[in-house]
Amino acid sequence: MKTYLVTGAAGFIGANYVKYILAKHEDIRVIVLDALTYAGNLGTIKNDLDNERCFFVRGDICDRDLIDHLFTEYKFDYIINFAAESHVDRSIENPQLFLTTNILGTQNLLDAARRAWVVGKDEFGYPKWTKGIRFHQVSTDEVYGSLGAEGYFTETTPLSPRSPYSASKASADMIVMAYMDTYKLPVTISRCSNNYGPYHFPEKLIPLIIKNILEGKKLPVYGDGANIRDWLYVEDHCKAIDMIVNSNKDGEVYNVGGHNEKTNLEIVKITIATVRRLMEENPEYRKVLKKREKNEEGEIMIDWINDDLISFVKDRLGHDFRYAIDPTKITETLGWTPETPFEEGIVKTIEWYLNNQDWVAEVTTGDYQNYYEQMYKKR
Ligand code: NAD
Ligand code: DAU
Repeated sequence: MKTYLVTGAAGFIGANYVKYILAKHEDIRVIVLDALTYAGNLGTIKNDLDNERCFFVRGDICDRDLIDHLFTEYKFDYIINFAAESHVDRSIENPQLFLTTNILGTQNLLDAARRAWVVGKDEFGYPKWTKGIRFHQVSTDEVYGSLGAEGYFTETTPLSPRSPYSASKASADMIVMAYMDTYKLPVTISRCSNNYGPYHFPEKLIPLIIKNILEGKKLPVYGDGANIRDWLYVEDHCKAIDMIVNSNKDGEVYNVGGHNEKTNLEIVKITIATVRRLMEENPEYRKVLKKREKNEEGEIMIDWINDDLISFVKDRLGHDFRYAIDPTKITETLGWTPETPFEEGIVKTIEWYLNNQDWVAEVTTGDYQNYYEQMYKKR
């Protein structure tokens, strides 16, 4: 049986990953470590925490004593590091927090792994590691910087991060590789493109647009909406990480992406059209709308759900133009391919939000309203 430490799994991708591996592997034990920042929500994983196969510890990846204690108590085989400050806009407002969590937090985990997993030295003075262990760093395509209209990121594209967030993630990647080169720690890194799907915090584009439509609010599109992202359904990302962690190939970096490039304006328009279509097909969904004007037949009207909701607002500082992943390596070496076409994934995602408004209310009770007003009033 393998014991996993999964950090940041009260957040979007980590939570989806824990659900994925618990369903896929019977013989595993998962310890979730999460600081429950504004982005973490225990409700997201409450049904997974059975205290037999899945346990929760609230704590900070920067806390040395806590991580040492957890290693002693649970004897981890795998560390999967999702924990991070993840939102580019917030990194522009408060870079230091990103450096602390994303760089020093990662380095703290690496050091704890070194203290716990080294069992001696080899004849050349290199540490000898416990067998069957792995440190996996969940990274991002943003470490490669920004593309023009042509080309793709491959694993050999030089790192060229441009935001405080991506600079912190690139630094973490370099520290991870440094621990492999210097101490021979068995590591892997995945660099994924933009994820979407259930449990996505509504500060990010797709869930924010869904939430605003349902509340009858304007839909803020930065600049002219021509920036391009490469969208991947979150479960496909989880599957990729699972394949990498179980691949027994140490020291490898894999790009993970869906060959699904869209401009932000396309994403917003598809989201508007899909919400409207789902409400036309199933009038029950209209009950979640905050704007509830009725027509003469007594039906909640939805004709206002159209592109007029779009509002072009001030651009993000240093806004990366385009991200696009070449996933050839993971496809050819591990057999991974994205399984969820965008047309299917976006419908599943929107239906999930329509059916889980309690979750949206739960994660937006705290500071969300202040954040939204501060972040968008100046745009
Ligand atoms: P998220 O913001 O939804 O979740 C982050 C989680 O980390 C939260 O639960 C939060 O409470 C926790 N956390 C933050 N600081 C912590 C700390 N100091 N100690 C312990 N826990 C802490 O993020 P996400 O979108 O799920 O992203 C997860 C990882 O995947 C991140 O490392 C991110 O860089 C990477 N990634 C995200 C995307 C994407 O599209 N969202 C794409 C590629 C890579
Ligand atoms: O590429 C992977 C990255 O994708 C991850 O590493 C990050 O953690 C994740 O947050 C995401 O970063 P982006 O900045 O691409 O995601 P976001 O959802 O914030 O924005 C997507 C695009 O939409 C981006 O070009 C900015 C634009 N945007 C975003 C928001 C929140 C808008 O036009 N309006 C908005 O209100």
